[in-house]
Amino acid sequence: MKRTRHGSGKGLPEYRKPRNPGEIWRGTIERLAWGGKGLARSEDGRLLLLSAPMALFPGEEVEAEVHWKARHGEGNVLRWSKKDPRRVPAGCPLAATCGGCDLWEAGAAVAELKQSMTADLLHRQLPEGTNWSYLPAPADARRHRIQLHWDGTSLGYHRRSSHQIVPVNGCPAAADSLSKAIPRLLEAIQAKLLPQRPQRWELATGTPEGRVVAIAEIGEKRHIWLLEPDGWHRDDSELSEAFDDFTLWHRAGGFFQVSPPWAVKAFGSVLENWDLKGGTLFDLYGGVGLFSALLGKRFQHRVLVEFDIAAVEWAKKNLDQLELPSQCIAADVGKWLPENLGGPEDLILLDPPRSGLEPEVAARLLSAKAETMVLVGCDGAAFCRDIQRMSPCWKLMELVVLDLFPLTHHVECVGLLKRG
Ligand SMILES: C[S@@+](CC[C@H](N)C(=O)[O-])C[C@H]1O[C@@H](n2cnc3c(N)ncnc32)[C@H](O)[C@@H]1O
Repeated sequence: MKRTRHGSGKGLPEYRKPRNPGEIWRGTIERLAWGGKGLARSEDGRLLLLSAPMALFPGEEVEAEVHWKARHGEGNVLRWSKKDPRRVPAGCPLAATCGGCDLWEAGAAVAELKQSMTADLLHRQLPEGTNWSYLPAPADARRHRIQLHWDGTSLGYHRRSSHQIVPVNGCPAAADSLSKAIPRLLEAIQAKLLPQRPQRWELATGTPEGRVVAIAEIGEKRHIWLLEPDGWHRDDSELSEAFDDFTLWHRAGGFFQVSPPWAVKAFGSVLENWDLKGGTLFDLYGGVGLFSALLGKRFQHRVLVEFDIAAVEWAKKNLDQLELPSQCIAADVGKWLPENLGGPEDLILLDPPRSGLEPEVAARLLSAKAETMVLVGCDGAAFCRDIQRMSPCWKLMELVVLDLFPLTHHVECVGLLKRG
């Protein structure tokens, strides 16, 4: 077979030839794309996707370093010649370097920016006329879990688009108790009271925030230390999440919502507005039972499927304590999910990980006999793909986009689907 060499641009039409790498481009941001990138156009009409560390506003004039591909360019904003008047100083001294948050300077306009980037995605991926609304985050929503990295010298977050560490001494995006625990973790590692080897550390707290635990994976095992006034103590601790109507327990280091008080309020208000009740709730990717608890007695019975065995044990205890009879199954949803799941009175609720539904799960749901489904997704693009995959049999009736991840471009999508 004859091979064709690519790369020199020789023989390509003029518009497809690669330009100089790292070219400086000046122009105006037209609108925001999914992921928080600014969309602009070069003089010859090619699309440009531009990133900036702390938010971009449509209409801003910028200077960017751009790398050209065959049909479009990508680059980073270096400076602004005209800034949007709504831009505010970042509330964190590390905002420009740390990779944790990317909308610090959006200020009060954050909801507008996140809605406009979500609109861009939904417009391209979902049918015309999709009914959707947006719920902004309250100003006091803070992270109850943070992941830090220790490289043997520094403790901090990863630098934007890199594995280098930005040392941190506190974090205004995290709950106050976690922020204050960061220097205490560093102190204990440096004093050799905690393991020295380079690794990832998670700090977590419950609801209301208070008890702080540090979690490290060592070999195959998860080790947990509880922060007490006199330092860190080994404690195979669980965390409790107490909300207005129920309390849930989970193992420290296991999955729970990042901003639990706000997430529970937001999910609760969405589910309350939808007429969800009936026979069996299939709570798939159910964790420790958050959605089963939220829907409570609106269903006669619950089947929760989750592959983390510790989470399933907690789900059993949590739902028993709430007097919600449930079958909690430790299994991979992809292996467990039968054809023809449920009946007309039942609800299938799916809250998969960020990557969304595996193709065979989406395919098997086409034959389900339940008539109502709720799909939850923390990656908008994966969520839209799953809606498309199920569209031969399931119609998206309503979509609520929740800002569960303040200061970042991420959102949570919650969709109500009906068979049809
Ligand atoms: C986004 S979390 C949702 C958990 C729960 N619904 C909640 O809100 O607390 C996804 C959950 O799915 C579980 N999970 C991931 N892949 C799975 C699979 N293939 N089968 C079963 N559970 C899975 C994870 O352990 C995690 O608890």
